[in-house]
Amino acid sequence: MARLDVTEMFHGISFPGHLHTQDSLQLALKCQFQDTDILIVSYPKSGTTWMQEIVTLVTNRGDPHVSQTVPNWTRAPWLEQYYCTATLKASSTTPRLLTTHLPHHLLGPALQGSKARIIYVSRNPKDVVVSFYHFHKMANFLPETGSFPEFLNRFLDGTLHYGSWFDHIKGWTSQAAALNLLHITYEEMSMDLNGTIKKVSSLLQCPLLEDEVSSCVKHSSFNSMKNNKMINYSLIPDEIMDYSKGSFMRKGQIGDWKNIFSKEQNEYFESVYRSKMQDYSLEFMWERQKFEDQPI
Ligand code: A3P
Repeated sequence: MARLDVTEMFHGISFPGHLHTQDSLQLALKCQFQDTDILIVSYPKSGTTWMQEIVTLVTNRGDPHVSQTVPNWTRAPWLEQYYCTATLKASSTTPRLLTTHLPHHLLGPALQGSKARIIYVSRNPKDVVVSFYHFHKMANFLPETGSFPEFLNRFLDGTLHYGSWFDHIKGWTSQAAALNLLHITYEEMSMDLNGTIKKVSSLLQCPLLEDEVSSCVKHSSFNSMKNNKMINYSLIPDEIMDYSKGSFMRKGQIGDWKNIFSKEQNEYFESVYRSKMQDYSLEFMWERQKFEDQPI
């Protein structure tokens, strides 16, 4: 399945045709969730892969064998991607670990009444757009970026692949109470990986000994993951991900947006952010400081 230049439009959102078909997207909406399922939900570039690694390690009590021998898309397939059904059929692992980038307004109905454990991972959107921009440069299944200001406008308009970041975060977080959902931020993972692992182990009812927690921390660190070919996407051929243009495990930092945003872009971003998020009390860490020091 190459289809590198194909775009699938689904419910007004564009998805890369290399990974999605109308059938696979449709099937995702009809998913019969099991109460034991673990579902990682995120907008792209928010720390999805990091959480896949954390959950794999937690459910294996810190033993890195699975995370070092099975690619992340096999152990935590994206529900809406074309290979998901076959991957789930071939696997006998319980509980099932699934991943999705779909917004709540599309996937919510399938989750109604479900006790599936959901981990929603978010990241401050300035770093999301910068990470997404760099990822577009190397991922040949994503469209040309254009200039950074053009890309930023498309992010703020919600017209990039996978749709609007604003709709995604508002949709999932506003429904958290009706779902068995734990919201974890990239910044929290970055500042307190140990605490994040304990929260995940508690949600999944996988109590861990201190040395098992330490092993999870060690194997989900940026450097460990950068060197683990089962999670760093180096198994993907160069025609699909062009490693001469970057790497998936790029910087892994909070506040990298400051290296690319101009003053004007930042002001524009903040005005759009304020108007779209005015009814939501979410707070993000925009740089490596305390939450209460943040400007928005
Ligand atoms: P950067 O491009 O800013 O480096 P996703 O998995 O949702 O696509 O997110 C990818 C982003 O998460 C990339 O951000 C990547 O470097 C970062 N990331 C992945 N694993 C990480 C880790 N262990 N520590 C810090 N950042 C990590």
